Amino acid sequence: MKVDVLLGLQWGDEGKGKVVDVLTPGYDVITRFQGGPNAGHTLEFNGEKYVLRSIPSGIFQGGKINVIGNGVVLDPILFKEEAESLAASGHDLTKHLYISKKAHLILPTHRILDAAYEAAKGDAKIGTTGKGIGPTYTDKVSRNGVRIGDIFLDFQAIYNKAKEKHENILHSLNYSYDLSELETKWFEAIEYLKRFNIIDSEHVINRYLKEGKSILAEGAQGTMLDVDFGSYPFVTSSNTVCAGACTGLGIAPNKIGDVYGIFKAYCTRVGSGPFPTELHDETGKKIRAIGHEYGAVTGRERRCGWIDLVALKYAIMVDGVTQLIMMKSDVLDDFETIKACVAYNIKGQEVTEFPYSIEDNKIEPVYVELPGWKTDMTKMKSEDEFPEEFNAYLSFLENELEVPIKIVSVGPDREQTIIRYTKE
Ligand code: GDP
Ligand code: IMO
Ligand code: MG
Repeated sequence: MKVDVLLGLQWGDEGKGKVVDVLTPGYDVITRFQGGPNAGHTLEFNGEKYVLRSIPSGIFQGGKINVIGNGVVLDPILFKEEAESLAASGHDLTKHLYISKKAHLILPTHRILDAAYEAAKGDAKIGTTGKGIGPTYTDKVSRNGVRIGDIFLDFQAIYNKAKEKHENILHSLNYSYDLSELETKWFEAIEYLKRFNIIDSEHVINRYLKEGKSILAEGAQGTMLDVDFGSYPFVTSSNTVCAGACTGLGIAPNKIGDVYGIFKAYCTRVGSGPFPTELHDETGKKIRAIGHEYGAVTGRERRCGWIDLVALKYAIMVDGVTQLIMMKSDVLDDFETIKACVAYNIKGQEVTEFPYSIEDNKIEPVYVELPGWKTDMTKMKSEDEFPEEFNAYLSFLENELEVPIKIVSVGPDREQTIIRYTKE
């Protein structure tokens, strides 16, 4: 068996949580392989709405195994909150959730360092989620990290050593902070963590593959936030691309099966950083209002713009996408015309290959304009109901992107998902 991977192709929040939930019945195991509680994955079904941050989006489709892989960074406090709120709504995770010993822990001081580094950057701040993601991955790579497996060792000493290093940095930055309350909660949450199955996940996952179990890997963030290929330095600190599933789970590249690339029918971004097709006008506001484009966790306003095919083609290339999933099509139901960026005009030159840097604010998107469909698609159940103009938009995108669009989402609910059968 192989591992199928589902990845955001834009700047995150494409709707990964919803689609993982929809695809879960077809899999035995769902895994997260990178990122941490910077993610906010929304699922809606039976009139209920859930936002998951560290826990895979497969936990609502009863009895599936869910694994938090070694590539994830875990904040025990936020994990406890998430697991307790799910338990309160009748979803006990202790049997079905496995956590890698090799995943790194987000310490209270990592969160404080995140805030301190952002403050030090001033206007050049990244606009991080403030969850300590960057400092935790930095410690991992610089070999100063604390791993979940360490909680079964001389943990207090390991913790103290890491904390001391962090406090030295915070003092050198003259950053004032109060750790005591956070630290108490953190140690309580470490105790809570011990009731879960903390495992050597790379062995377990490879055993599952041998046994013929089907596995879906759920990406967090999006390709344009990847630390290598995203709009650096305005990115997150992990590899969000498909290759991240190999390192974040301990599976070989030849074990990757289908790669589902998920994108919105338009584009959004939250936090700072370049966004060539951003709309600062009424159209941008209209997309935000209809699409409820506010952060799932932070509530921050998401910046909105037209779809960017230059960036999308790049993401498809680096991820090796085999099937596309288009989300939030319904948000464009009421537009006379829809625009799609097919090239960047950079200082008079038309560029279709995603450039080294999109920082340069002299990028002018080159748009193709297509007629809107002006039809409410939210109750549609089959592609036979798609309006002509919507089919034309799909064909245009498939032609440009050279990958079939297999699923179209027409609303936030699990049921508002249309699997296309005509395209191979
Ligand atoms: P994720 O981080 O990729 O899982 O995405 P988020 O949950 O952060 O953001 C996606 C938002 O869009 C959530 O509020 C979803 O409930 C919502 N959503 C998902 N698919 C659709 C869709 O097809 N139409 C509409 N209108 N909303 C959707
Ligand atoms: P999901 O999984 C959208 C953005 C932040 C910031 C940058 C770095 O829900 O799609 P970080 O806290 O990771 O150091 O912040 O990355 N960012 C996201 N934007 N969706 C996400 O996750 C994000 N996770 C991080 O806004 O610009
Ligand atoms: Mg999100």
